[in-house]
Amino acid sequence: MTDTCNKRVSRRHVLAGVFGAGALAALATISKGTSFAEEATTLVAATGTLPVPEQLVATESDGVSVFTLAAGTGTDTTLISGKEIETAGYNGTFLGLTMIVSDGEKVRWDITNNLGDETTVHWHGLHIAPSADGGPQNVIEAGGTWSPETTINQGEACTLWYHPHGLGTTAEQVTLGLAGMLIVDDGSAENAALPHDYGADDSPIIMQSTAITSAGAFATTNNNFTASASTLKLLVNGFSATDTTPTLSVAYGRVRLRLLNASLTDSITLARSDGGALTQVASDAGLLAAPLSVSTLRISPGERAEIVLDLTAADTAVTLNATVRNTTNGTRYTVAMLQVGSTATTAADALPSVLNTIPALDATGATTRTFTLSNSGASMLINGIAGTTMDIMDANAVMTTLGAVEQWTITNSSTNIYHNFHLHDVPLQIVSVAGAAPTGANLGWRDTVEVVPGTSVVIRMQFTDYADNEFMYMLHCHNVIHEDDGMMLGLMVMG
Ligand code: C2O
Ligand code: CU
Ligand code: CU
Repeated sequence: MTDTCNKRVSRRHVLAGVFGAGALAALATISKGTSFAEEATTLVAATGTLPVPEQLVATESDGVSVFTLAAGTGTDTTLISGKEIETAGYNGTFLGLTMIVSDGEKVRWDITNNLGDETTVHWHGLHIAPSADGGPQNVIEAGGTWSPETTINQGEACTLWYHPHGLGTTAEQVTLGLAGMLIVDDGSAENAALPHDYGADDSPIIMQSTAITSAGAFATTNNNFTASASTLKLLVNGFSATDTTPTLSVAYGRVRLRLLNASLTDSITLARSDGGALTQVASDAGLLAAPLSVSTLRISPGERAEIVLDLTAADTAVTLNATVRNTTNGTRYTVAMLQVGSTATTAADALPSVLNTIPALDATGATTRTFTLSNSGASMLINGIAGTTMDIMDANAVMTTLGAVEQWTITNSSTNIYHNFHLHDVPLQIVSVAGAAPTGANLGWRDTVEVVPGTSVVIRMQFTDYADNEFMYMLHCHNVIHEDDGMMLGLMVMG
């Protein structure tokens, strides 16, 4: 523990040195044990410099790492001149600080809700008991606090995130800025062989396709995304890449980018502007078996992916372009999303050729289920049900038992609307996509998977460790507008 704390302190110094004061000023800084209430954040950093969320350092209390979070509101006046846009954030006015936890670490979050509205905080992708999962049953009243505890029990190095998960309010709260990153270190040599010095050669890239209405508010409906009066902007760590391509300069020959699509509804496809390949090292829920070379990388809402960029020539920079597509897969726009450069003069060592071992779950005797994602106009359904109230969630909860292996067929029966499928609690393995064996990053652990209209994805998972007869996990489409409109069911794991 002491060792970890020391490393965290030294990372903070590296962060200041590498990313520079401009970026640091952009997001709230929290020191161990100090009060953060008066520390403000702004959306936009000094010209062109990518803001990087600071690390939220835990305080130590009786062997427990305590993370203090406060959800609160703010305003932004920089995105659109003359408009004051309402925002929200954790420990700041937009987005949240990054938490880094290790397998075996005892963790508590002390969360205060200063939003003036009820909220919840869900740990997307974290294997945690349902009573601490932050779903709709874990409401934190306005002015209230919530202090869930767990021992990190992930078994994989992964990039997770935290965000609100109320019934019908998730889109509104996420788009205001309530989203932050939660990084799990599994202690493996493979993870250690990848860049992992947060803020130095390891950076979050939180992407949000947003629309700002003529009234000056972040859009939460499809109509506002397409209305001609709305201004579309791709935000990267809160910085508008639509207005200026942000730059990230590192002092290393290799950088790890933890990509999160925190958009409400849009998918984002990344590609290098020079046509070069990208090296993907992780899917949503863990490292891939081996580094994967891809020409483009499509990330649907809620999904994460990790890539590493080799920046061996100190005088060249890599630009990542982002193509943003709507829920019917129509291209909205392409922007130069990020320019990454290095001051290093020596090349990085070779990447490890093996990153992970992913044993296939044995489906012998597995319970099978089917889930059909469909819509009736704007009403979004799973198996014909719109999960919009607690009564409906209770009455229609999927019931399984601790230890069960299950195999589910997820079918998108909408005519032209793309959906994806996210499951809480445990990671999943993809068995087939549209009838074909999975390839590429679909061979890795996932917690969110896109389902193209008219096709099915078959997934497999095992419900280990946590059971509860009162609290549910959720399964849903992570197009958050669809989720709010009912494309969500509860899952009970019975002991
Ligand atoms: Cu990202 Cu059910 O959540
Ligand atoms: Cu989740
Ligand atoms: Cu959907």
